[in-house]
Parts: sequence; C-alpha cells; structure tokens
Amino acid sequence: MAFLDRHKVLEKNATLLLAASFVVVTVGGIVEIAPLFYLENTIEKVEGMRPYSPLELTGREIYIREGCYVCHSQMIRPMRDEVERYGHYSLAAESMYDHPFQWGSKRTGPDLARVGGRYSDEWLVAHLTDPQSVVPESVMPPYGYLTQRLIEPTYIEDLLSTHAMVGVPYTEEMIASASADFMVQIDPFGDFDGLLERYPNAQVRNFDGQPGVSEMDAMVAYLQMLGTLVDFSTFTPDASR
Ligand code: HEC
Repeated sequence: MAFLDRHKVLEKNATLLLAASFVVVTVGGIVEIAPLFYLENTIEKVEGMRPYSPLELTGREIYIREGCYVCHSQMIRPMRDEVERYGHYSLAAESMYDHPFQWGSKRTGPDLARVGGRYSDEWLVAHLTDPQSVVPESVMPPYGYLTQRLIEPTYIEDLLSTHAMVGVPYTEEMIASASADFMVQIDPFGDFDGLLERYPNAQVRNFDGQPGVSEMDAMVAYLQMLGTLVDFSTFTPDASR
C-alpha cells in the first residue's frame, strides 16, 4: 500500500494538509464559479412568463406581509413524489420576476407553486376565512379580515417602478396604466382589453364576490395565477444546455 503510505505524510502534517485542502477547494471553486461569468444567462427562457399584473403583485405583497411563506414553499423539487403531488417541477424562469423569491424551505402546509386553478375562488375565500370549515384538521390560521379591507391603487405605480428598478421588465406604459389595470381586473364588465394585452392570460373576475377591491381579491388573484403561465402540455426543456 505505497499510496496510503504516501498519504500518511499529509495526514500527519497539519500545515501540509491545510495547504493541500486549500488547493483542492480552490480548484473546485474555480471550476464551479468561473463559467457563470461567461454565460449570458443562467435562466432558460420559457414561453408564457410575464411580470405580475398590478392586482396580482399587490396580492403577492399581502402574501409576504402575512407571512404565508413561513408555512408554504413555492418551489416544486424535481423528485418523483413532489412532481406527482404538485405537478411539473418548478423552472428557474417561473420565479425570475419574484423579488424577493418565495422558494422557501419550510412546509407546514403544501407547496403553493402550482395552486392556481386547483380550487374555486369560493373555496379559497372560505379556506382563507376559516381554514377548518373546509379542512377540519387544518392548523392554518384564519385571514377573514382580508375581505373587509378595501384597497386603492395609491402606491401601485411606485410598486411597479420599484420592481422595474431591480430588473422586472415593466414598461412606461404598464406603469402609467397600473391604477386602471388594478381596478379593472375585478370587473368582468369593464374594459380590460388593455390589461390582457399587457398581461396575457390575466384572469378577470370578482374574486371575492363582494363589491370593491379588497385585499382578499388581490390575494385570490395572486393564488389563482400561481404556476399557470407556462403551458406544460407544449413545454420541452432546452436540451442544448
Ligand atoms: C401556520 C402555518 C400556515 C400559515 C401561516 C399559512 N398556512 Fe396555508 N396551509 C397550512 C396548512 C397546514 C395547510 C394544509 C391544510 C389546509 O388545507 O388547510 C394549508 C393549506 C393552504 C392552501 C391549500 C393548498 C392545497 O394545495 O391544498 C392554501 C391555498 C393556503 N394554505 C394559502 C395560504 C395563504 C395565502 C397564507 C397566508 C395568508 C397561508 N396559507 C398561511 C398552514 C399555513
């Protein structure tokens, strides 16, 4: 065992071991990190992704304010049990407009990355108002006050501009129409053509069934669009990477 004998030299000399470990870690680090400087983009482009509509973005702010992420993750890992339970594993592009991202690592409740369309608006409102009324064994707290809190798009332009500052491609036009887009998304009788042009596949309806725009409307609009933008019946991963 001549090889092991030679290895003894390293094992018996702490300074030499330290120096050798440093060399190994340095080489490994360079191999992992250096290519990132030459790639133009590490996120595969995926059809269907768009920035959040003003109402959805507001719902997302409320989601963060209420700490929903403390119990819910938004990233489906590419493992069989996850994919069978929640649907197609999450793509990097699906959270590229999320600031901050909501991947999370704690799941007291289920992953929400693809909860959009899984339940009716009525179910979501009933569940958020009193989770135990629809899932008796639930430990989720109630959020019924969201329905009572009517909101106005006072700061919506600032919110979009801030996201634009960190790289979300909100255009001047999107920012200028933010208030109108915010109001019209809960009004199926309104003039929402512009909204749909700016935010394809945005869902337009009165989400909580009450007059006026409430925090519940924003929250349900957000939940109902989660994971719905990419059409996985036509999506094929880019094999060139
Ligand atoms: C204390 C932990 C906790 C917090 C905080 C929490 N939830 Fe939950 N949530 C759960 C648990 C547990 C379940 C599973 C049982 C159930 O359906 O109620 C759940 C279920 C859900 C579901 C149904 C998901 C599915 O696929 O069946 C939705 C939607 C949901 N939560 C949304 C939210 C939102 C939005 C917030 C923030 C306003 C929130 N939750 C806050 C624990 C939590």
